[in-house]
Amino acid sequence: MTTLPIESQKTAQIRFTLNGEETDVLFAPYKTLLEVLREDLGHTGTKHGCELGECGACAVLLDGKAVLFCLVLALECGGKQVLTVEGLGEDGKLHPLQDAFADLGAAQCGYCTPAILVTAKALLDQNPHPSRDQIREAISGNLCRCTGYLQIFEAVEAAVLKIASKRIPEHKWHSVSTNTWPGGRMANENDSRTTPADDLNASHDELRVIGIPRRRVDGRAKVTGQTRFADDIFLPRMAHCKLLRSPHPHARIRKIDTTRATAYPGVYLVLTGKDVPIQYGILPVSQDEQALCLDRVRHVEIQSRRSSRARS
Ligand code: FES
Ligand code: FES
Repeated sequence: MTTLPIESQKTAQIRFTLNGEETDVLFAPYKTLLEVLREDLGHTGTKHGCELGECGACAVLLDGKAVLFCLVLALECGGKQVLTVEGLGEDGKLHPLQDAFADLGAAQCGYCTPAILVTAKALLDQNPHPSRDQIREAISGNLCRCTGYLQIFEAVEAAVLKIASKRIPEHKWHSVSTNTWPGGRMANENDSRTTPADDLNASHDELRVIGIPRRRVDGRAKVTGQTRFADDIFLPRMAHCKLLRSPHPHARIRKIDTTRATAYPGVYLVLTGKDVPIQYGILPVSQDEQALCLDRVRHVEIQSRRSSRARS
C-alpha cells in the first residue's frame, strides 16, 4: 500500500458559509468537517475530543442547529451555513453568552467552552427564556470536566437577562452581573430579584473588590476559542504521535513485532516499552507505573467498573 502526500490527497472541494463568509476549501475527501475546519481552515476554536460523538467538544451550528462535527463528513456540507465560536461575537464585541461565561467562571480550562457556547446559542435562538431544566437538557451532550456545570447554567441564565435588557450600558453590566448577587452569583429560581432593572436598583458599591469574583485575565481568550491547546498547534512538516491502546483490560504481552509498522511510508519511529524503560508514579507508593507497557497491559478502568457492576 502506498500513502499519497497530504497535498495530493486534497481532491474534494466545497463552498459553504463559515461565520457569515463564503468559503471555498479543498480537502481530502475522507475528512470530517471538524478536521477540515481545524486543519485546512485553521479554525481551531472548535475542539477535537473523542471523535465518537460522545463528548460534545466539537459542536458547531449547522444551518442553526447544534451538530457534532466529528460525525459529519465535510463533503456533506456544501452550501450550508456554519457558525463556530469564532463567529459568535459581532463588531469585535463578545456575544452576551461569551460575556457571561467569562464573567461567571463558566469557562475554566476552556476546552468544552466553544461547543457549549454555540449549543447554548442554538437554544436561545429557539427559546429566548429557557428554564434551568431546559438549559440542562440542551447542553446535556456537552461534557465538562472542570466546572461542575453550575456556573455554566448560571452563565446561560445571565446571558438571557442581558439579551432581554439591552438597556443596561456595557460598563454597568459587569458590576450587575458579578457584584450584585450575594457571593457574586447570579439570581437563581428562588431569588426575588429576577430582572436586570432589579439589579440596578439594588445597592452596591462599585469599588468593592475583595470577595467579589472578577473576570479572569484569560477569560476573553477562553470564550472566543483563541486559547491554544497542544492539539491546536500545527507546524510545517509536523510529526504526529499515535498511541496504540490494548483492547484487553489485563493481559500479558507475548511479543510486539514492529517490522511492518516501521516500514510503513511516512512512519519515522515506533517506540515500545522496551525503548522507554522508565518507572514513575505520582505517589511514592505507586512508583511502579510505566510510560509504555513492558510485559503486560493492565487496568482499563472503565471496563473494570463495568465488569464489577456486572458481577454485583
Ligand atoms: S469530538 Fe467528541 S463528540 Fe465530537
Ligand atoms: S471548562 Fe474545562 S472541560 Fe469545561
